[in-house]
Amino acid sequence: MSSDKNNWSVEDARNLYGIDRWGAGYFNINSAGRVVAQPLQGAGGMVELTEVVKTARKRKLNFPLLIRFQDILRHRVRAICGAFGKSIERNQYEGKYRGVFPVKVNQLREVVEEILDAGKSHGYGLEVGSKPELFAALALQDQPGSLLVCNGYKDADFIRVALMGTRLGKQVILVVEKLDELRQIIRVANRVVVRPEIGIRMRLLSRSNGKWADSGGEDAKFGLNTAELMAAIDLLRAEGWEDCFRLLHFHIGSQVPDILTVRKAVLEGARFFAKVRKLGFPLRYLDVGGGLAVDYDGSRAAFESSANYSLEEYTNDVVQTIGEVCRAEEVPHPDIISESGRAVVAHHSVLVVEVFGVNAKTGKLRLKYGKEEHALVRQLLKIRRGLARGSKLAAYHAALNCKEDAYNMFALGVLELEDKAKVETLYWEICQKVMAHFREQEEHVPEEISELEDQMGDQYICNFSVFQSLLDHWAVDQLFPIVPLNRHTEPPTREATLVDITCDSDGEVRKFIDLEDVRDTLPLHALRRNGKGMEPYYLGFFLMGAYSDVMGDLHNLFGRVNEMHVFLDPDEPGGYYIEEIIHGNSISECLAAVQYDRRELERQVKKQFDAAIRDTRIKSSEAMKLLDEYQRGLDGYTYLSF
Ligand SMILES: Cc1ncc(COP(=O)(O)O)c(C=O)c1O
Repeated sequence: MSSDKNNWSVEDARNLYGIDRWGAGYFNINSAGRVVAQPLQGAGGMVELTEVVKTARKRKLNFPLLIRFQDILRHRVRAICGAFGKSIERNQYEGKYRGVFPVKVNQLREVVEEILDAGKSHGYGLEVGSKPELFAALALQDQPGSLLVCNGYKDADFIRVALMGTRLGKQVILVVEKLDELRQIIRVANRVVVRPEIGIRMRLLSRSNGKWADSGGEDAKFGLNTAELMAAIDLLRAEGWEDCFRLLHFHIGSQVPDILTVRKAVLEGARFFAKVRKLGFPLRYLDVGGGLAVDYDGSRAAFESSANYSLEEYTNDVVQTIGEVCRAEEVPHPDIISESGRAVVAHHSVLVVEVFGVNAKTGKLRLKYGKEEHALVRQLLKIRRGLARGSKLAAYHAALNCKEDAYNMFALGVLELEDKAKVETLYWEICQKVMAHFREQEEHVPEEISELEDQMGDQYICNFSVFQSLLDHWAVDQLFPIVPLNRHTEPPTREATLVDITCDSDGEVRKFIDLEDVRDTLPLHALRRNGKGMEPYYLGFFLMGAYSDVMGDLHNLFGRVNEMHVFLDPDEPGGYYIEEIIHGNSISECLAAVQYDRRELERQVKKQFDAAIRDTRIKSSEAMKLLDEYQRGLDGYTYLSF
């Protein structure tokens, strides 16, 4: 990569941010240096994200802003169904593919509705894991014959409502997560006189190697082991319910990065299926769970934020493995269910965040040095002068020594503020020069200098909350591709970490995708001023549609963000239209979530203004204006507005 302005090209930017690797054909950078979305990959229009940002500003939508490309959702559903279809044909597989979307991965009604609509012709169904999800799915899933798979622990209420679905003519399958649950299903179903369709989740020995490996293996939280499966079989036989046992399920964890793990798990699961069938149970479905990974870093490696396989390799391996086992065991091929979540929704949403400031170690303030400087300052000036000659590492050590002396002297009260400021400024300047030397020489970089590089990085201050919008980055170090939305015709000249606006030191992003490993800083452009102040600089957080989209926490009472749902339309001027705007939480909504009643707050503030008027501290006209501002403010967005 060249950081030289004259030699820099958009192609360099594409390579630096890896956009044509993780973008999966949905995102790229155009020749004008702006990020574009191609929601139908090569088969449809292209939308510049900065255009969508302009539209948002015109419509007075503040940032952070979540852009949903509804066409991408539809494209993903069709791509997965299509890939399974092709694999079924290629392998002369005799069963069908029946996809279900696990609602927990993105519960937003508009997302679930779009998926169901896109999957209508494929009989795409839903998977739920809780009572609230079941209540939503029961209402939305109205295609006769489509599946509603009920995972997760269940109580009698859960089972009763699921059986209500059966009575409505839906194909609801109650998946047993533990043996007692089967006893309860039998009790409730007998009471309401409905023959349930039952699935059993198996606890496979196969384990994944990703972040969510604990979902599989012998110590998994859900599922039955082989002895429990035998006990369940006895229970079903005793009830005369052999025909109710319809599905065998397993799930070894989300984001399985290695195809060999997928293969092993499917082989084990298919073997269970075949053995149960041979015991005389007319099982129809084998549910391979979720786990189809998203290549967040574009490395195509068996690394936790990537995947060493394509969608086609996945569907082929699943179909082929099940087919081979069933042929060998001479049992009919099951219909294959998969519960892909992230692979369906991750790509469709982009979070746009505005950078509004920088904390930089160097370059902000120019200090003047005279003849009568403090000894430490003089020493550092000498180190700086001598940098061109001699060992750079030794110069760095000498500068570090001065900085530490300054710290001790300040603590003892024998160093003044002005001298401390000069010592620190000179220290960081020297560090920057030492680092530049190692970078240019391309010689081995000592570890302490690499660490220095991370310390020297700027902090770009971004108007968002990690806890609301990036919870799984905070909790489990999930990586997301982050790219400036424009300026890609110029090289990024700064290295930075990102900090949010919550009052929490954890509210930051210090890990970024990389082809090799994980980066500690993100290359960004220097912020610029224009006539009106700081020129807006927007970052896109990509592949945000799974989990992080809906897991947000109200830390500091920063609420859900504004959303725009974009649909391609070649007849519209920008090639798209805004199908829907969903306003983020207002301040009063976030306050209500923690028991503050709006009217009560207004009443208490009014009481204080009344007292101030009575004490003649404030004029009544002014008090009314301020009270009005307080009341209007409660309707405002929880984030900063610039
Ligand atoms: C039972 C079950 N099915 C499906 C999924 C979705 O997995 P993914 O998003 O990796 O496809 C999960 C998530 O962990 C799950 O627990």
